[in-house]
Amino acid sequence: MNTLVIVGSQWGDEGKGKVTDYLAQKADVVVRSQGGNNAGHTILFHQQKYALRSIPSGIFNPKIKNIMANGMVIQPKQMLEELHGLEARGIREYQLFISNRAHIVLPYHEALDGAYEQFKKDKKIGTTKRGIGPAYADKANRIGIRVADFIEPNVFKDVLQQTLEIKNMELKMLGLDTFDFDSIYEEYSAYAREMKKYVCDTSLLLEEEIQKNSKILFEGAQGVMLCLDHGTYPYVTSSSPTGASVPVNSGIAPRYIQDVLGICKAYTTRVGEGPFPTEIEGELANEIRERGHEYGTVTKRPRRVGYLDCVVLNHARRVAGINHLALMLFDVLTGIDLIKICYAYELDGKRISYVPASEYEYSKVKPVYIEMPGWKEDISLVRSFEELPTNAKKYIQKIEELTHIKISLFSVGPDREQTILLEELL
Ligand code: IMP
Repeated sequence: MNTLVIVGSQWGDEGKGKVTDYLAQKADVVVRSQGGNNAGHTILFHQQKYALRSIPSGIFNPKIKNIMANGMVIQPKQMLEELHGLEARGIREYQLFISNRAHIVLPYHEALDGAYEQFKKDKKIGTTKRGIGPAYADKANRIGIRVADFIEPNVFKDVLQQTLEIKNMELKMLGLDTFDFDSIYEEYSAYAREMKKYVCDTSLLLEEEIQKNSKILFEGAQGVMLCLDHGTYPYVTSSSPTGASVPVNSGIAPRYIQDVLGICKAYTTRVGEGPFPTEIEGELANEIRERGHEYGTVTKRPRRVGYLDCVVLNHARRVAGINHLALMLFDVLTGIDLIKICYAYELDGKRISYVPASEYEYSKVKPVYIEMPGWKEDISLVRSFEELPTNAKKYIQKIEELTHIKISLFSVGPDREQTILLEELL
């Protein structure tokens, strides 16, 4: 296969960064097509840990073309800081291309993100407060600022003047401080000048690469359950992280997307608010949280922890087009006597096997579990399916049976060598 989409099949943080980095060794192009610096992709490279936020994970390899496509919302200041941070750590040779159709995030988006959250009180979403929702709202409302306009000083001046007038009215109405045009313009024009050299029409570049038969990896951010359309609305992000969203978010034809690798943890986590049927609390949750280092990359919040939910995985399979699975953090489950897997829900006494659309219904569902005996053996040194303890093998087989998706790789630790490929991808 020459193109592969990587999507989170749960609520994000499934280990997409690790898989992307692993598969990027074979890729010619790595594309981020949605989201912005709300993402945090942790990558271990040469024994060093990097947390990428908006830059694609192929950045460490000078041969890879890294594309930030049109579906992204980019905070120029943060993006450049991230790039400078990488350069300071020795990553100086890279290829980066930013779509002229991507939108930019400005300080008023961040202020509004925080303000909306505050006004929602106990209904808050628990956003990363990076301005992602307000930036996508402006895009849909046709008052967003695109990269192409941002890098043209006079055009940027005009669109910023116009937009800031509206945004300042909104901020005033909410009782918040307004922004001064001159200071934003001056500061962000400097970022625009620096960003300009990376900007191009990335759709044209992708077409060229497709025609050359290049291997292209589309690196998803967030996860299907955070999808604006198919996630647990309103507790979602403001873009669509599915396989189906990739063509529109990167400017390619849908026929180029055939394979979608869903990344899932061997259990489930969620940051932020919203329903989470298999959530567990207490000692086991704490143990999993500590062993799996389940703290947000962006906000450092402790993640909520739960058992694996195959209703969620089936939902993700259907709406995101997943046809391969990567099972991550498998080693974290070692030592648990009985491991539960949710395969259905009960809603008002009736058994269902789908994710209800309404938050009201979804917060009422009770998970239906099967119990699987665990294993005690350390699996972090395992390098093949055959070396796994019998119960760990059965756990993998049960997930395949319940989701109807083949597990193509599993991971037993943070290092690249701890990624065990079961079938060739890309
Ligand atoms: P936003 O994307 O900052 O608007 O946040 C909306 C919801 O998505 C919140 O629950 C966030 O915690 C969640 N979220 C956004 N990005 C990520 C991510 O990369 N991993 C996990 N959760 C995320």
